[in-house]
Amino acid sequence: MSEKNTPITGLARQTEVYLKGMMGATPTVPFDPIKLEAAAKEKMNPKAGGYIIGGAGTDDTIRENTDAFSKYRIFPRMLKDVSVRDTSTEIFGVPIPSPILTCPIGVLEMIDDEADKAVGRATSKLGLPMIMSNQASFPMEEITADMGDSPRWFQLYWSKSNELVKSLVQRAEKCGCSAIAVTLDTTMLGWRVQDLDLMHLPFLTGQGIAQYTSDPVFNNIVKNMDFGSEAMSVPGVDPETFKSVQAFTGVYSRPSITWEDLAFLRTVTDLPILLKGILHPEDAALAVKYGVDGIIVSNHGGRQVDGAIAAIDALPKVVKAIRKAGSDMPILMDSGIRTGADIFKALALGAKAVCVGRPYAYGLALAGQEGVEAVLSNLIAEFEFTMALSGCRNLGEINSDCLV
Ligand code: FNR
Ligand code: LAC
Repeated sequence: MSEKNTPITGLARQTEVYLKGMMGATPTVPFDPIKLEAAAKEKMNPKAGGYIIGGAGTDDTIRENTDAFSKYRIFPRMLKDVSVRDTSTEIFGVPIPSPILTCPIGVLEMIDDEADKAVGRATSKLGLPMIMSNQASFPMEEITADMGDSPRWFQLYWSKSNELVKSLVQRAEKCGCSAIAVTLDTTMLGWRVQDLDLMHLPFLTGQGIAQYTSDPVFNNIVKNMDFGSEAMSVPGVDPETFKSVQAFTGVYSRPSITWEDLAFLRTVTDLPILLKGILHPEDAALAVKYGVDGIIVSNHGGRQVDGAIAAIDALPKVVKAIRKAGSDMPILMDSGIRTGADIFKALALGAKAVCVGRPYAYGLALAGQEGVEAVLSNLIAEFEFTMALSGCRNLGEINSDCLV
């Protein structure tokens, strides 16, 4: 069981860093987000770097996701007594110390042996919710074993087997998840040129399929599958594992999914259901119509549609559509969050919270659990500074007036 630290404040984090520096320490992970990515890239092997850092096509959307933030300028106010600051909020009734969750990121075993377990321990220590990936490197039961009562959600890929969907969701409930985020934008993996150039996809070697191989329904699918007279053999992959891989590629995702299918999910869980990957305001309005409980505005970190709109640009359009449709559902955002200022801007544009993705994976690659803690602590701290220095004492004071 991981012990929980006292909540991070900007000042405490800053002081801790400078004092450690005076004792001769050097940072485990760089503070500058560009240096953070560069250091992680240096540390990762090329296949991990290709999969984790890379995106779809020319990486145009990856660049746009971060560049687009600079259009929105913070308009700070003075003399507001910001001596007492509160970054806490709640989401679906669960209190959190800062409006930050971790994005579901698959196949973290490529960069750290403890992978999702290390992330779970880091988020528990900070009290931030972790969204566990459907493509995690450990079964959700193992990831959550070390997490105490810290908040966690499960991210679902809608499999071709509804029985498998049901089983995954019910396991997530048993693991204490307080919401299900269904990712809609990855009915098939995007055209990822870095992976294609390396001719490498981690799932095909059996990485990132632990939620499946630990699932009784999936294992039945494997058992009943017809693999022909001879098991296909691939160098470096154990034949039994490769059977699971083949079954996984068969059931992974269902491109035929439509709005009507969401009703099925309602029949298998009472947990709040969020849609991850909404960008278009008309889809946002449909989400209200079909009765979901929340939205994560996201373009999957530019990994799916090269040339897609930046998530931060889609956010205000989605917020407007959802509120116009009469819903006050929480709207979260990911894709491009790199700094505390980015978090502040997302909240000012109507997000309830943000999900941090690649930066924590970079921390993991550089220094395991401690690296994840460092990256998240820095974001918590920088966000608190941005809030205070802009003249806001709490999240309720962050609104569109704070931006130009
Ligand atoms: C992802 N993402 C993702 N999303 C999801 O719903 N399930 C998953 O298994 C994964 N896997 C995954 C792997 C890797 C290596 C990356 C980088 C991303 C998308 C993720 O949840 C999130 O939308 C993006 O990471 C946001 O973009 P940035 O801010 O990380 O660039
Ligand atoms: C990806 C999937 C796993 O982005 O979501 O690679």
